[in-house]
Amino acid sequence: MQAEIMRLKKEKGVCILAHAYQSHDIWEVADYIGDSFGLSQKAAQADASTILMCGVRFMAETVKILAPHKRVILSNSVAGCPMAEQITPEQVRKLKAENKGYKVVAYINTTADLKTECDVCVTSSSAVKVIKAVDSDKIIFIPDCNLGSWVKTQVPDKDFKFIAGGCPTHLRMTVGDVHEARRNHPQAAFLVHPECRPEVTALADYVGSTTEIMKFAATDTAHSEFIIGTENSIVQHLQLQMPNRRFFPLSKNCVCINMKATTLGDVLECVRGIGGEEITMDEQMRLKAKHCIDEMLRLG
Ligand code: 13P
Ligand code: SF4
Repeated sequence: MQAEIMRLKKEKGVCILAHAYQSHDIWEVADYIGDSFGLSQKAAQADASTILMCGVRFMAETVKILAPHKRVILSNSVAGCPMAEQITPEQVRKLKAENKGYKVVAYINTTADLKTECDVCVTSSSAVKVIKAVDSDKIIFIPDCNLGSWVKTQVPDKDFKFIAGGCPTHLRMTVGDVHEARRNHPQAAFLVHPECRPEVTALADYVGSTTEIMKFAATDTAHSEFIIGTENSIVQHLQLQMPNRRFFPLSKNCVCINMKATTLGDVLECVRGIGGEEITMDEQMRLKAKHCIDEMLRLG
């Protein structure tokens, strides 16, 4: 299957972008693997006529927003991110009306429709930099209050308002999991994604996006064992890449069924032209949503 995918993507001019949470067999056929910020940058630069996004819907929408003349395919149409739909554009309008003078910062895990109401987007790896650079000290941060709380600890001089949103996958990890993992692996460094609960993130040795966690684990010379507090595919990727180091999941429950919806078989059907879902978007909406992604790429 991988050989056929490699042959067809070359023949048909398909660029495969894969989020880091995709499985290793998909990594091996991808042209680029990365976190949400890296994927956005690649989407803006890619020169292939078709882009296949192996990830979730908001990621494919981001590609379409940045590359409107390309065919953009989402690898499996059921792959959505529940967090992206936790707040509606009407709710954002209401928040803005109630909090005059605040800038709305949206995690990139939001629908294109929602982005039309926001001033700037952020990803987990760009949030601190972007929010420091935003020309306002008053920030409404949607929808992930956990990521937002972590950013607040890094940018304490700004005033933040949050809503009760977040990633259901990262929420499964608890302080009890941290104590147990530390007991079982006392020599290990504990690395987490900022989508985790604040009380979990507060116990970490390092906080970062998926790509940043992987980079830290590959370059840290003080440790050879790591407890990984993010989607468990990262544990597998790291262990395959670095057999001389040891990687442990913080919890075996941290599996995102949406990220796992795509299989190698889906990728093959997509490059054959018989699978996935082509993303289309109203041009007015695209242009309004593009503004906050452009701002993120400029500031981040
Ligand atoms: P990053 O890859 O940007 O860290 O995002 C994690 C995530 O949950 C994506 O849905
Ligand atoms: Fe959404 Fe969380 Fe899954 Fe990422 S890991 S796609 S934020 S549910």
